[in-house]
Amino acid sequence: MPAVDFHDGVNKGVAPVTYGTGSRPPRGDYAKARADYTCEQAYAQYTEADHETYRRLYTRQLQQLPGLACDEFISAVQQLGTPEHIPHFDEVSERLLIATGWQIVGVPGLIPEEAFFALLAARKFPVTDWIRKPEEFDYVVEPDVFHDLFGHVPLLFNPVFADYMQAYGAGGMKASRLDAAELLARLYWYTVEFGLIATPQGLRAYGAGILSSAGELRHSVTSPQAERVAFDLQRLMRSRYTIDSYQATYFVIDSFDQLFEATAPDFTPVYRQVRDRIAVEGEIAAGAVLAGERRFSANPPARG
Ligand code: PHE
Ligand code: FE
Repeated sequence: MPAVDFHDGVNKGVAPVTYGTGSRPPRGDYAKARADYTCEQAYAQYTEADHETYRRLYTRQLQQLPGLACDEFISAVQQLGTPEHIPHFDEVSERLLIATGWQIVGVPGLIPEEAFFALLAARKFPVTDWIRKPEEFDYVVEPDVFHDLFGHVPLLFNPVFADYMQAYGAGGMKASRLDAAELLARLYWYTVEFGLIATPQGLRAYGAGILSSAGELRHSVTSPQAERVAFDLQRLMRSRYTIDSYQATYFVIDSFDQLFEATAPDFTPVYRQVRDRIAVEGEIAAGAVLAGERRFSANPPARG
């Protein structure tokens, strides 16, 4: 593991570069952030309405999990503690540290890539401290505490997935040096955020973007409209994605071990091969399917 190096990721007191194409300034108070972009969870600032929003989001999502979320997620979700109020990050961290050596740390919102990678490489998962407003109940543009906690943290209790996330962080620091962060971001998007896993009982979701979404959870697993293709690292890195609609394509892994092993080799030659191939054939559009590739059909509509 390379030493954590904050060179470009240092908080210089300005709003960070965010992803995507939006011109909105990032939400959240970056003045309170430390040099590594982490901050105290401003717990006293949550209002009763904030806790109520969390409670309603949690309850709605929890009842949808059976038959749609993977078992590893379902068995760990109660580690977040009571759904009655927004969890104290310190309390979740205490349990997580014992389980897999991870911690969660507060952040004011989206942070620059380099700072994000460095935190993951140190087994620290950044969690946005603010929660969406009631009028954003169904859709919020930036990740909030519900997405970050409910979506991401349960799987950090799984030892293999926890190791994958750390490896991703270290790989990200390397990708930045190789100017390949955009290709690597596709891996995060199609696994950590929107990944599906094949189980003997059928497809299940493990990606946080799916698991924290009221509509996409069912859609991703059961809709005949979406494409579901077998995980293939280079195919995935050649694939574009959409950020403003349900995914047109999901990548399906067989196990977390498979994901870990497929991503363990040095990506230096992989980035080169992917770039060469893109130069000749172009990128793969979201929703496109290639001749002969292994596809999965939707689960039958789940109950409820
Ligand atoms: N093996 C990757 C590399 O050498 C690191 C990595 C691991 C990236 C897991 C993503 C996920 O760059
Ligand atoms: Fe996320």
